[in-house]
Amino acid sequence: MNNPVLALEDVRLTLAGNAGPVEILKGITLNVAKGETLGLVGPSGSGKSSLLMLMGGLERATSGRVQALDQDLTALDEDGLARFRRGRMGVVFQNFHLIPSMTALENVAVPLEIMGAEDAFGRAEAELVAVGLGARIHHYPAQLSGGEQQRVALARAAAPRPAIFLADEPTGNLDGVNGSAIMDLIFATGRPW
Ligand SMILES: Nc1ncnc2c1ncn2[C@@H]1O[C@H](COP(=O)(O)OP(=O)(O)O)[C@@H](O)[C@H]1O
Ligand SMILES: [Mg+2]
Repeated sequence: MNNPVLALEDVRLTLAGNAGPVEILKGITLNVAKGETLGLVGPSGSGKSSLLMLMGGLERATSGRVQALDQDLTALDEDGLARFRRGRMGVVFQNFHLIPSMTALENVAVPLEIMGAEDAFGRAEAELVAVGLGARIHHYPAQLSGGEQQRVALARAAAPRPAIFLADEPTGNLDGVNGSAIMDLIFATGRPW
């Protein structure tokens, strides 16, 4: 595969448990091409979130190599990882992870402002309109339904137009109808992810 967007080579993750070290990932080798969409399926506790965190540079591998966009993530320190993620990685979590003291608009504008993007608030509003929340931009997360909160999280993750978009059980806290709507948004053609 030419220049995969993500390249994992014999990645291992061992964490300290109460009864000694726990081997969570035992030698994962995986390539993801540009434009490829990959679903990771497995029982609870099998290491899906851990693998996603490694791919996103949010967790460090115990050994092996994680390369994203031709950058070896295992060679970067915490600050380096944070800089690398900025604008390149979009991550959506099961629990939305919105900032409760900020409105939907402010939540979406944050990553754009951190990037130093021009017209962060204008762009943030356009992203919220794109996920069908144009009438909710000044609402706080607590004033939004679960499905609406996840739309805000999608808009926030997509706003910087990341090259890599990771979602960890993004419909896990939603009912069937809202879950399908979120999946439709994630896989809709023409969207950046
Ligand atoms: N910080 C941690 N310390 C020790 N074990 C952990 C830690 N985080 C997760 N685990 C364990 O790692 C395994 C994989 O967890 P996880 O990646 O969350 O799985 P999944 O997302 O597939 O449900 C589980 O057995 C979990 O208990
Ligand atoms: Mg998980």
